[in-house]
Amino acid sequence: MTQQTAKVFVPSSTAPAPPQAAARDTAQAGTVRIRLWDLPIRLFHWSLALLVLAAFVTAKVGGPWMAWHGRAGVAIAGLIAFRLVWGLVGSTHARFASFAPTPSRLRAYVTGKWQGIGHNPLGALSVFGLLALLAVQVGTGLVGNDDIDFNGPLFDLVTKERSDSLTGLHHQLSNVLLVLIGLHVAAILFYALVKRTNLVKPMLTGWKESTLAHPVRSGSVPGLIVALLAAFGAMFVASGELLREPDPAPPAAASAPSPSMAPPPPASTPSW
Ligand code: HEM
Ligand code: HEM
Repeated sequence: MTQQTAKVFVPSSTAPAPPQAAARDTAQAGTVRIRLWDLPIRLFHWSLALLVLAAFVTAKVGGPWMAWHGRAGVAIAGLIAFRLVWGLVGSTHARFASFAPTPSRLRAYVTGKWQGIGHNPLGALSVFGLLALLAVQVGTGLVGNDDIDFNGPLFDLVTKERSDSLTGLHHQLSNVLLVLIGLHVAAILFYALVKRTNLVKPMLTGWKESTLAHPVRSGSVPGLIVALLAAFGAMFVASGELLREPDPAPPAAASAPSPSMAPPPPASTPSW
């Protein structure tokens, strides 16, 4: 695998500044521009936020929108699989190893000694918490049912009783998820308003000004391909395609039952 290294950029403030720009540049003095979040992470993050929002809205509206609820959930399964692989092969700050909340990092953070770029150890805990909770949420939804006309695409893997209890868990966890997302956004607001640190800009542009210079390694292209394959594989499995039986051959026209004799359609599992 080829890896590119050292994407650290020296600020333009090292050149003499015109007088009117001096005050603005003072804040930048001694900082370097660092590629913090790579494009795949940014696309992952904002797609995830949109799809989770869509999952909540479609679940609340219900009815015909449950099919879209399921589709949003299947797409979220793909995003989670992508992130798990990208956490191993992505750029420096996307890698789990770079921000895993180890006891020593957590200790350093709570005693005010932690120095770093990217997720701080407490933020990292919430990242892992969010990803794990989303995975359980998707898993319980896939085998869930709404007791009316919607079954998750993997409903057939469990009994109706088990599906009902996992649907109950799905409901309860959706409230826990709401709380975690609320805390996530509150932490970002806290950083913006109290610590005067804009975390959102790097998640939009990828760049961060930092006093801590260090080389940033890009993710590898083969790694990206593996991550995308994992995402599509997860969506394929989650959509129930593996459980789908081949359509039976259409009956000969003469022996086809009249519409009034036809059996009622099964509880719908929409086509994903
Ligand atoms: C992270 C992804 C998901 C989130 C945030 C989510 C959220 C929710 C919420 C908030 C509800 C409760 C709606 C209410 O108040 O009545 C719900 C219900 C449900 N969801 Fe999900 N869901 C997700 C993924 C999925 C997936 C992948 C499926 C299946 C493909 C699914 C199937 C269901 C079913 C069957 C119900 C029960 C509806 C009912 O009891 O009326 N969900 N979901
Ligand atoms: C449903 C909503 C959301 C979910 C599920 C969510 C989830 C996540 C996750 C999993 C990460 C970790 C990224 C990674 O390394 O993989 C993250 C980071 C981040 N999110 Fe969100 N997010 C949501 C909404 C938002 C919103 C609305 C904002 C902006 C106000 C936001 C701003 C950020 C920022 C700035 C980071 C990076 C934090 C840092 O610098 O450590 N997120 N989010």
